[in-house]
Amino acid sequence: MADKKIIAITGATGAQGGGLARAILADPNGGFAVRAITRDPSKDKAQALAAKGAEVVKADLDDVESLKKAFAGAHGVYAVTNFWEHFSAEKEKAQAKNIAEAAKAAGVAHVIWSTLEDTRSFMAPDDKRMPFLQEKYRVPHFDAKAEANAFFKDVPTTFLVTSFYWDNLFMFGLAPKKGEDGSYSWAFPMGNEKLAGIAAEDIGRTAYGVFKAGQSYVGKTVGIMGEALTIDEMSRKIEKGLGISPVKYNAVEADVYRSWGFPGADEMGNMFQADRDFAKQMLANRNLDEAKKLNPQLQSFDQWLAANKDKVLPATQPAATA
Ligand SMILES: NC(=O)c1ccc[n+]([C@@H]2O[C@H](COP(=O)([O-])OP(=O)(O)OC[C@H]3O[C@@H](n4cnc5c(N)ncnc54)[C@H](OP(=O)(O)O)[C@@H]3O)[C@@H](O)[C@H]2O)c1
Repeated sequence: MADKKIIAITGATGAQGGGLARAILADPNGGFAVRAITRDPSKDKAQALAAKGAEVVKADLDDVESLKKAFAGAHGVYAVTNFWEHFSAEKEKAQAKNIAEAAKAAGVAHVIWSTLEDTRSFMAPDDKRMPFLQEKYRVPHFDAKAEANAFFKDVPTTFLVTSFYWDNLFMFGLAPKKGEDGSYSWAFPMGNEKLAGIAAEDIGRTAYGVFKAGQSYVGKTVGIMGEALTIDEMSRKIEKGLGISPVKYNAVEADVYRSWGFPGADEMGNMFQADRDFAKQMLANRNLDEAKKLNPQLQSFDQWLAANKDKVLPATQPAATA
């Protein structure tokens, strides 16, 4: 244990960091050890990692000194911020800055920063197709992460460009819903473009591949996905995989989606519109072959669906939206 390289994982009780922690813990001879960072070491998800052999350390992304202590002696840091807890691009950037500063102070050899692209680079500032949000962002949770890349310039970092989690189908209630006529439907402003998706668990598994590959990935940007599919293609796979039909895709306009008013509707409307209008760039930024090389267990949508049928099926029932 003592000679293992410690990976300090922010978000260890969440989807991305949890996937990485589980991947390391499942490979006891891999040469790496988990330091799971959480604001609350007593919570079930932290305790579950401790039971599997992780060291659990308390720290807060808003408190740089707590991060410096949590990163001390670590070989690597997995850096992820959670936009959806506060919906603030500025806060997300401040937290990323704290992580980078603490990693530098601790002399960490390898950071993986979980990032996304700056969607503003796709459009001229006077492009009217989508509104600016939080004054200066097109898709705040993308643009803020991309801006935060600059904080890591003096730290040995791999920039991991992630993809839409298929787990959103049950985590965020995005699964097709059963209507009164017995058919299932879902709506996105995705037109007939392909959306790069991934099993959330595979992000962490791929990050483990990056840590194992080591220094050759420092300074690199690695875009990952499990599969790119149109919503119609996903609908056909859901019909087959879950044994429900028909699943109808309603290709709404982005303005309509943004007008629905649920928390984050404007943010997600802009995000799907960026995924649709700039599909070529979004797909070019993600490399399936490299993701498979780093993570031989990488799942396709069908594989993910088969493994998560018991979670996705209940999410198709109208009650699940309540
Ligand atoms: N959903 C998607 O399709 C998707 C796709 C690509 C990227 N992303 C990005 O993924 C990020 C979220 O990652 P996730 O899905 O892995 O998160 P998650 O499952 O929602 O869990 C959030 C994690 O963040 C930690 N955390 C939040 N605030 C913290 C703070 N102040 N100090 C310390 N830890 C803190 C939580 O730890 P404790 O509560 O234990 O302290 C928890 O482990 C978002 O920024 C999102 O933009 C999402």
